[in-house]
Amino acid sequence: MSRSAHPAGPRHADVLPEGHYSAPPADLNTLDKKVWAQTVGRDEHGELTVGGIPATRIAEEFGTPVYVLDETDFRARARAWRTAFGPDADVFYAGKAFLSRAVVRWLHEEGLNLDVCSGGELATALSAGMPAERIALHGNNKSVQEIRRAIEAGVGRIVLDSFQEIVRVAHIARDLGKRQKVQIRITVGVEAHTHEFIATAHEDQKFGIPLAGGQAAEAVRRALQLDGLELIGVHSHIGSQIFDMSGFEVAARRVVGLLKEIRDEHGVELPEIDLGGGLGIAYTSADDPREPHEIAKALNEIVTRECEAAALATPRISVEPGRAIVGPTAFTLYEVGTLKPLDGLRTYVSVDGGMSDNIRTALYDAEYSVALVSRTSDAEPMLSRVVGKHCESGDIVVKDAFLPADLAPGDLLAVPATGAYCRSMASNYNHVPRPPVVAVRDGEARVIVRRETEEDLLRLDVG
Ligand code: LLP
Repeated sequence: MSRSAHPAGPRHADVLPEGHYSAPPADLNTLDKKVWAQTVGRDEHGELTVGGIPATRIAEEFGTPVYVLDETDFRARARAWRTAFGPDADVFYAGKAFLSRAVVRWLHEEGLNLDVCSGGELATALSAGMPAERIALHGNNKSVQEIRRAIEAGVGRIVLDSFQEIVRVAHIARDLGKRQKVQIRITVGVEAHTHEFIATAHEDQKFGIPLAGGQAAEAVRRALQLDGLELIGVHSHIGSQIFDMSGFEVAARRVVGLLKEIRDEHGVELPEIDLGGGLGIAYTSADDPREPHEIAKALNEIVTRECEAAALATPRISVEPGRAIVGPTAFTLYEVGTLKPLDGLRTYVSVDGGMSDNIRTALYDAEYSVALVSRTSDAEPMLSRVVGKHCESGDIVVKDAFLPADLAPGDLLAVPATGAYCRSMASNYNHVPRPPVVAVRDGEARVIVRRETEEDLLRLDVG
């Protein structure tokens, strides 16, 4: 066994302070397939490789911190969703999880559609050649300019989120001499078992129009009267990072219930329903995510059954996975800068990024895993907290992790499952430039989003 470089650091399970962790894993060098991108492994030198490229080479060539995205894995996951739902359904990738022009092209090639929720995401999608009819525009407060641009471009659907928006979109469409396909987003009153900030179908929150009290039915009534709108369906998104299928099933049942009400009242059968995104992924070995084919099967069965019972034709289903496609495909590569062993507590391991490249730990108390990837080590497990370089004690990347006790400055750490909501939620806090995204595939690595520079930051500062 190697000797600890930090003898004061707590290492043994029997002296562990309170925390999320369980016992240290049997072998710190093993990379659990569940949390790492598909092509990740260790080479004969013990280094992590992805797409056939060693982590150290990526760090040398592109610097750290860096998001490393496995294109092969991304395409495989996109395809798995597409195949699972088949030709009679649509898969809209949720661009908010992570969007770049390369990603748009991959999605296009793999036959997926795209959900955008801002003018910026729409511009990215259009500039990379996503056909407008395969784009859906979301958002609870779309600006008039965003709506106008989307309609002019010819987006396939706009998901209406409020009574004001029903009228606003109808007017803009009429103004442009168009009839816009729309869905109405409803809140079905389901409590999704996830963090409060990412649950979206209970009543006391900002999204959608409640089913309760007949509000959703009233929204449908109004939309059907406006000639600028073609109401094609109803939309429900219950939250994010969800493992339990029962919330989706209740949502599907309630959405179909509304379709039946609409048919009974207006004699109209809406042809589509969208059941949103939200499927959870594995951030640590303790998580057990569902596969796309299981989700497709469960949703198809429930919708078909409920429609049969209501004597409705089965509508075309669409879903909007974001995290489940891109989340597992990337990891963030950091270099260790300093180590502080705190007696009886843990060792603080500072890396060269932090809450500006991954805000999820601070914001949602999210759990992540981490591994030493520039080498293997036989040293004892050392209870660690991986922290960033920002001026806040809440700047934590991985709250509780075991790392080898011989960890030293210059070692490379990788945090897996950072493909979703990390780069897309990155900030310039403390004027730290945002890291690049490097895509790897078949032995080749290329920058798809370049590193931000201090010049980029200064360019915006025109005072
Ligand atoms: N569709 C709609 C209408 C959404 O609002 C979202 C996510 C999705 C689809 C995609 O959900 P996913 O499959 O990625 O879970 N920043 C948070 C997540 C916020 C999700 C917002 N909406 C996080 O880091 O966990």
